[in-house]
Amino acid sequence: MRILFAAALMATAAPLAAQSSASPAPILTTPEALDVWTHAEPTVARVTHVGLDLNVDFASETLTGSAKLDILAQPDAKQIVLDVDDLDISAVTDGSGKALQWNVGADDPELGSALTVQLDGAKQIIITYRTQPGATALQWLPPEMTAGKKKPYLFSQGQPINNRSWIPTQDSPGIRQTWDATLTVPGDLVAVMSAEKLSGDKGEKLKDGRRRFRFRMDKPVPPYLIAFAVGDLKFKPLGPRSGVWTEPSMLDAAAHEFTDVEKMIDAASDLYGPYRWGRYDMLVLPPSFPYGGMENPMLTFLTPTIITGDRSNTDVVAHELAHSWSGNLVTNATWSDSWLNEGFTTYFENRIMESVYGKERAAMYADLDWDGMKRDLARYGGKTRTGAATRLHGDPGATGGQLDYFKGSNFLRMLEVTVGREKWDAYLRSYFDRHAFQPQTTAGFLADLRANLLQGDPALELKLQLDRWAYAAGLPDNAVHITSTTLAAVDTKLKAFNAGGPASAVQTDGWSTQEWLRFLNGIPRKQTPQRLAELDKALGLSDSTNAYVRSAWLELAIANRYEPALPSLQEFATRVGRGLLIRPLYTGLMQQGDWGADIARKLFAEARPTYHPTVASGIEQIIAGK
Ligand code: BES
Ligand code: ZN
Repeated sequence: MRILFAAALMATAAPLAAQSSASPAPILTTPEALDVWTHAEPTVARVTHVGLDLNVDFASETLTGSAKLDILAQPDAKQIVLDVDDLDISAVTDGSGKALQWNVGADDPELGSALTVQLDGAKQIIITYRTQPGATALQWLPPEMTAGKKKPYLFSQGQPINNRSWIPTQDSPGIRQTWDATLTVPGDLVAVMSAEKLSGDKGEKLKDGRRRFRFRMDKPVPPYLIAFAVGDLKFKPLGPRSGVWTEPSMLDAAAHEFTDVEKMIDAASDLYGPYRWGRYDMLVLPPSFPYGGMENPMLTFLTPTIITGDRSNTDVVAHELAHSWSGNLVTNATWSDSWLNEGFTTYFENRIMESVYGKERAAMYADLDWDGMKRDLARYGGKTRTGAATRLHGDPGATGGQLDYFKGSNFLRMLEVTVGREKWDAYLRSYFDRHAFQPQTTAGFLADLRANLLQGDPALELKLQLDRWAYAAGLPDNAVHITSTTLAAVDTKLKAFNAGGPASAVQTDGWSTQEWLRFLNGIPRKQTPQRLAELDKALGLSDSTNAYVRSAWLELAIANRYEPALPSLQEFATRVGRGLLIRPLYTGLMQQGDWGADIARKLFAEARPTYHPTVASGIEQIIAGK
């Protein structure tokens, strides 16, 4: 089916390609660009603009309203196929209100359903619908789960394919769409979106007491980047084009933590070209936010767990900012090439950190990422005979752990070191320019690299091993390991401790998150209860307010079935919902036989309502042993 369809795509693609900047963004029709995670048939008919008008109702945990879609279709196209996941659709009409025929296909547990609309010549369709309370993109938080504890909160997380649970559109990263939205919310709440604000910070007060906010994104974006949040939000400016939104009680701490953001925007633009999105604001969410950060355009979403008071986790801000180029400007055409988003961004993030804070601090992050890469290679390399999970290009979502980040960024670091920074930076800058607002594939990137950087140099081609990096398992032998002297100093202390030295001798004053992580993750997994008690007492690990430290400590404690740490685990896992910090704890518990499985099940039963649907279903799989 899929292969036949790909052939059809190739044959009909040309008329839909963009001719000028006013035309819709082009779609790619090469074999690697075929997205198996969408029902859409974009070369037959595609969405070019989404207009949302939604009312947010906290009592029923639903969004109700309409999506008005602009359609570009082949002259003979009979229908358009959209992605939907559990939407209650009540009507579909054309732009003038004439009813159109539609039907929702069978529900695929991963992809959701196809919504097929008979176009009857329509250039615009209007879908009237309501979301379900369990919509996978949405997390509805009761007041208790917010910092202020008085008002509810709601946010969306689109990547990779969650947005079809609240927007009926073609939910594929290769199908770029402009959009606008009107959100109507309770009168005491504020709505923000990943777009230009058209109605001021406070919106418009309606006669019925509700508030209406309007937004517009006039640049074509992949639909996973449409995002919003509603809550008791306040804004503080940080610079001429940047600022931070969060709940009032968090505002000062957030502004203090992110004070360098303007410097980061300057550094990033100096490296790889102008920042093309106008403003760069950030939203700090409640601790149940499932990710460290999410690069929603003009409004990065961030976990509060990076606010540690010492600015040691601002690499996450540099990362999400870097996505304004790698990901948001040049976008992986399918989730099989997520390394084009995440690997490029991890590399770029490190270059921003180096520009703003110097070589050693950047080396510290890069060195830790090297550890992460080695860990993931060991973990996922042996899983299949072919090491499929360690390949950069593969099935969507199949790259193991964070290898799309670590191996991907290492690939680019190798390119930098091999061709020289000056030449590489000039190339990368022109790459972002030439592919701005377009989808990209691994094959497309390699072709671009060969045409514009290698330019037929056979010796260089041999040296780089491009195809091995992109398509083979494992790590090619030209990988570059950047090492940090700060972390080497931690290693010295670690060695003494691991040789039996007292925990009280470990000087941790002024340690950054990264130094803590190097230390805690370097402790052999098998420890006695006495030793763990000594460590906890000397370093205050169970009570640490640094979520990274707390998570790393709990992992070690769980590996030893160390029960005195269980209250700390319970408090942490029911408050923090960031997958990266929580999932390893459940995985660790499940590796501890009945003892751990029992704790995991009880903990999850209690914590589940505090997790975002995507994190909740991930943990459900861990507990089910999948
Ligand atoms: N785009 C990702 C978040 C994401 C990844 C959402 C996969 C959905 C699926 C974001 O840019 C990211 O990588 N966040 C990291 C932080 C980063 C510094 C490594 C995270 O969440 O930890
Ligand atoms: Zn990222």
